[in-house]
Amino acid sequence: MTDSGTFQSHMYGDVDLTNREIVEFQKSIGTDIGTVLDIFTEPFWSEKQTAESIEETLKRTAEAVSLKGEMMINGVVQGSVYPNLRKDCAEKLARMDVDVHPIGGVVPLMEQYRYAELVDVIVSSKMGLNPNRPVHLFGAGHPMILAFAALLGCDLFDSASYAKFAKDDRMMFIDGTFRLQDMQSLDCNCPACRGITLEGLRKTDKNERIRIIARHNLYQIKQELSLVKRYIREGRLWELAEIRCRAHPAMLDGLRKLREYQDYMERFDPISRDGAVFYTGIETRGRPVFRRYDDRLMTRYVPPTKKAALFYGEQNKPYSRFFVSDFVNARRQGYTPIVLSPFGPVPAELDEMYPLAQSMFPTIEDTDTENESDEFSLSFLEKYFPEGAVSGSDLEAKYGGEPTDDEMRENDANRVRAVARYQFGIEAAEALLRGELTFRKSRKTGKIRNVFSDGEHVLSMRAGDGFFTLRMEGARRITESIPAPHMRVRITDDAVPFVSQGRNVFCQFVTDADAGLVPMDEAIIVDKDDRPVGTGRMLLVRDEILSMEKGVAVKTRTGSDEEGED
Ligand code: GUN
Ligand code: ZN
Repeated sequence: MTDSGTFQSHMYGDVDLTNREIVEFQKSIGTDIGTVLDIFTEPFWSEKQTAESIEETLKRTAEAVSLKGEMMINGVVQGSVYPNLRKDCAEKLARMDVDVHPIGGVVPLMEQYRYAELVDVIVSSKMGLNPNRPVHLFGAGHPMILAFAALLGCDLFDSASYAKFAKDDRMMFIDGTFRLQDMQSLDCNCPACRGITLEGLRKTDKNERIRIIARHNLYQIKQELSLVKRYIREGRLWELAEIRCRAHPAMLDGLRKLREYQDYMERFDPISRDGAVFYTGIETRGRPVFRRYDDRLMTRYVPPTKKAALFYGEQNKPYSRFFVSDFVNARRQGYTPIVLSPFGPVPAELDEMYPLAQSMFPTIEDTDTENESDEFSLSFLEKYFPEGAVSGSDLEAKYGGEPTDDEMRENDANRVRAVARYQFGIEAAEALLRGELTFRKSRKTGKIRNVFSDGEHVLSMRAGDGFFTLRMEGARRITESIPAPHMRVRITDDAVPFVSQGRNVFCQFVTDADAGLVPMDEAIIVDKDDRPVGTGRMLLVRDEILSMEKGVAVKTRTGSDEEGED
């Protein structure tokens, strides 16, 4: 990839070349990805000046597209600190035939530690862009910011700071940049520093020193990028970003600002991840997983009784295995057991479901998290328990003991209904679980495995995250009673023969999908007449699928023509 010189001419004075000359030049030297000569929009610019210069950038981008030939082209999002202009610029670029989207005009924000505004800029740009194209963050090169930028959806980075800093004797570390003359020790084992002491480095002649420090800086960037990739693979990027944002209070501002976009982030957040939710501090409650739990509990829960008994003790998980006798005692007196956790209220029926069972909090709670979960618990109790709530420890204990077989069956049925409502919605759960319910349980763990409704196998429960996988019979029941697009991914006729035999659904064969489905959600694959063709797990969300020309959209579990689903 080559850049156009926009930034250099903006910083160091005009370069007397046209957009056309610069694009042609990049083509002539065999660049893979060339860049348009965009206009750098400064954070201090007025909205009017910014809007006018975006017009010119877009004109030049159109010209670059017409010239690009075999070369890929960077269409740069500009717009200073104005989210509306950023989004508008991004939407216009999304409709043009460019290949990569850098976000430009952000270097001053990073240099001045204005990370909250950087979040506005990146998120509003992302909102307008085509999700099929990679996003580049122009000029981001400090290891400190890479995890956070990746979390915001940036895929590519570039920066000359490793070399510029080296010329100034400044060394980059994950927790900041330090001047050689201020450092007390070197403590670095990267290949550039190995075997060198602080004293030794200071005495090394200037050119060699610049070379060593530049290499050191690059190693820091490379190492952090590898770590970011590992955390992405492990589904733990939120955690790394939260930890990194503690390197500087201004970065923490960025993280706190991001909470304003919790709803937007939630649309892309998988229904469950392999790893547990690890609490790193009060900002953790800003993750989309908390928002989703709040929303779904307030809209998809149906209380088994009208009064609640409250229990405490976050460490005692899963709660219904710890509070066996207490829960029996409460239920026999007509109370629904609710555990108050950092997530807020957790009905006993939901206690094995992600992220409730798959999360770790410190035992000593902080007041922010406590206040927020208390506030949520109050509105939850008010909405669902008109006869009020009591502390479980205030109940007379004489009704406790082990549950009877009948009570076990009822608890299982309540759990299955509660999880199905949370996962699929109240009406879909109704359709799935009509009639008599029976279960097959794991002999080893006693957990529910398979759910039968009127003798038909409709759902299976996963041990890992406590959610259901949908069986073909379950899919049929939902399509028969809930109108499209709920839970549907609709495919073209030519893909039907393949998917009905269990092949995966590729993006180019999808004509529409439920916008409410998130990654790893159960999906019903249907033909154009809404007949179920298979079931599977979403890998992407609707907007991503519709904009992509290749790649797997749904990992098919079962096709409608396959024999022996079990
Ligand atoms: N390098 C750093 N910022 C920018 C920018 O806004 N545009 C271009 N083309 N290059 C950059
Ligand atoms: Zn080093």
